[in-house]
Amino acid sequence: MRPPSLKSSFQVNTLLEIANQFGTPTYVYDERIIRQQCQLLKKHLTGIHTRLLYAMKANSHPAILEIIRSEGFGIDAVSPGELYLAQKVGFSPEEILYTANNITDEEMHLTQKAGVLLNVGELSRLERFGQSYPGGDICIRLNPQIGSGHHEHVITAGKTTKFGIPVHEISKVLDIANRYHVRITGIHQHIGSGISSMKVLGEAIGVLLKHAADFPDLQFVNIGGGFNIPYHPDDTPIDFENFHTSIVSLLKDTNEKANQKLEYWFEPGRFLVAESGALLVRSNTIKEANGRTFAGTDSGMNQLIRPALYQAYHEIFNVSNAQASPSSYEIVGNICESGDIFAKNRSVQQIREGDILAIFDAGAYGIAMASIYNLRPFPAEVLIREDRSITCIRTRQSPEDLIHTMFASYFDDAS
Ligand code: LLP
Repeated sequence: MRPPSLKSSFQVNTLLEIANQFGTPTYVYDERIIRQQCQLLKKHLTGIHTRLLYAMKANSHPAILEIIRSEGFGIDAVSPGELYLAQKVGFSPEEILYTANNITDEEMHLTQKAGVLLNVGELSRLERFGQSYPGGDICIRLNPQIGSGHHEHVITAGKTTKFGIPVHEISKVLDIANRYHVRITGIHQHIGSGISSMKVLGEAIGVLLKHAADFPDLQFVNIGGGFNIPYHPDDTPIDFENFHTSIVSLLKDTNEKANQKLEYWFEPGRFLVAESGALLVRSNTIKEANGRTFAGTDSGMNQLIRPALYQAYHEIFNVSNAQASPSSYEIVGNICESGDIFAKNRSVQQIREGDILAIFDAGAYGIAMASIYNLRPFPAEVLIREDRSITCIRTRQSPEDLIHTMFASYFDDAS
């Protein structure tokens, strides 16, 4: 049986202290890890002109946005809510790319009023943009027909996806753009999330670069996000040497050969924040049934849906019984669905009722995808600052507060 391991830089004592002080369930983030990831990426992108954006859908807490902004990143926003928050945190319009997916005209007008560049992946949206903003600038999301990702739900290029305009339809893009004198200043791809193979990513980038010359006003090529992180102890982190040979060199050579000065944009989400976060939960019920031991916790799929939705692996560590020998558990939540499982047949240090478990690598698509299903409020959130001071960045809401916020208009009307 594999012994559980304590991931990243988290200290058992700190996690216990946080659980005791703020209660559970609580998301904890470590600022140092976020900065470390930002710097790791920047370090491996030297030698080419780049612009780095953060795909804020991975985790949009303003405290996290501020950290990433101070590392020099801009924002990839995808909704009016994200745009509003990015601006509120201080990102200027030039630092924001708005990647549209089946947006309304109102949303399109909102982006233009805000002065941000719109990234469109549908011909009909390009047409509507041209009609409303002739002579305007735009970015086009292309589908290079090569996709990749950790699960079929998150592969966003290839023959079956809704995203992007297939590369063989570029002539239609150019026709529309010419008709309205729209300047295509950027082309974009995002082929999927949780990409481990730099070779596949390199192939997709190759397709995009091959078409760069089709766009006379082109200033940048946006490669998208998607870099994976090692969730499982057997997973290997991104091989940055390979990244350099497969991707950075390719980008460099393309510019040199064509004597052009294209800027290359990247927009990772997961890579910057996943490893910085852990979800602290309390085991409150131990139950033996049908030869299995269930460790029931005070959180669930409503607060971290990745295991239920993608069968994603997250390392789990018993921080309040760290030295105990491991045994096998079904680690489950408190939600009324049988899919409400954090881990199946998982080896964790002996779990007792009352123990605190840390579910690691939960900084990306954790709280961001959380819901209040079963009317359980969101967990608290805590940030460990670079100087190791601990700040609560989201206080726990009571069920009463949640209900009053949700149904305020109804109750107000009724009273
Ligand atoms: N750019 C665009 C246009 C995207 O749609 C995404 C993610 C990213 C960048 C950032 O991708 P990343 O670097 O984080 O892989 N909920 C899933 C992931 C969905 C990703 C959606 N788009 C998960 O938990 O694995």
